[in-house]
This record gives sequence, structure tokens and C-alpha cells, in this order.
Amino acid sequence: MRPTERLSADHRLIEQVLDCLDRLTHMSATSGALDSERAHLALRFLAEFADRLHHGKEETLLFPAMQRCGIPANVGPIAVMLNEHDLGRSEMARMRTALLKNDALGFSAAAGSFVEILRDHIGKEDSVLFPMGEERFGDGERNALKEGFARADRELLGEGVRETLVALADKLAADLGVPHGAARSQAPRSHSCGLRCP
Ligand SMILES: [Fe+2]
Repeated sequence: MRPTERLSADHRLIEQVLDCLDRLTHMSATSGALDSERAHLALRFLAEFADRLHHGKEETLLFPAMQRCGIPANVGPIAVMLNEHDLGRSEMARMRTALLKNDALGFSAAAGSFVEILRDHIGKEDSVLFPMGEERFGDGERNALKEGFARADRELLGEGVRETLVALADKLAADLGVPHGAARSQAPRSHSCGLRCP
């Protein structure tokens, strides 16, 4: 398995929870009330799995490995990805604030923006950024990344937390009638995003 395939597998689970967020905002729009308990759970998954773990692996392992292979971080694709991670964090903060105020409309607005940013971001990574890295990695970088990714669950989240978050994502999907992430295609989708290889 190529190292970035582990990250693409994370994407399928993150997309599952983005679909749950979509479902929650749709239900809120039709009923006039937000299911705040499930909204909290979705936000917990996104903060811990999508941001701390998944974006953490990209920022501390993948992007530095790509830099060592000659791809700069201050301009070009990595800079775009880092900026989008920050945009996502801003929208998560807006969702958190809206939940605290029981502001269903504010939550739905922030969630809609977050889902759009993350879906587009994931498409760029799967179809452009990851293949760009894989083209340049030698065996040494590949092995170091695989070892780093294998340690990341424990180092970035703590023992057993990943399993708890995966179960949370699956329970949310089951409760909301959202298809399981594993049913999605693992193949990178074509994506026109304007990212340029330096
Ligand atoms: Fe990613």
C-alpha cells in the first residue's frame, strides 16, 4: 500500500461525516430545530479525527516529506492545502460558537461552508497532491511515512481514541441513514482544481 492511500482511506470516513453534517442541516431546515446532540458528535469527530489526526499527519509528516523532495511549502499546492486547513478550522469555530448559542441558522451556515471547503480540499488532495508526492518519494520516504502514519493514531490522539471516533462516525451515519464511507470508491476522482506542480 502506498503511504498516501492511508490518507485517502481517512478521506472516505471524513466524507461520511460531511454527509452526516449535510443531513443534520437539511433536517434542521425542514423541522426548524437542530439535533444539537448529533451536531456536537459530528463536530467532535471533525475536530479530533479530521483536524487533529488527519490534518496533523499531513502537516507533520506528509508535507515535510514533500518539501524534502523539492516541493515548497510557502507557495503552490502545499501552501493552498495549509490555507484550506485554516479555513476549515475557522468554520469549525463558527459551528462551535453557534452550537453554544443554540443558533441553528448560524450552525447550518457554518456547516455548509465547512462541507464545501472540505469536499473540494479532499478532491484536490486525492487527485493532485497525493499523486504528486508519490511520484517523487523514494523508498526511504515511503517507509518513513508508513511508520509515521502507523504511530500517529497513538501520538496525536491517544491509545484507542481512533477506534472510538470511527465508531462514533459509523453510529452517526447509521442513525442518519448516510451510506458507510467504505462503500465509496477508493480510486482518486478526477478533479479540476488549478493546483500546479512547481
Ligand atoms: Fe487530507
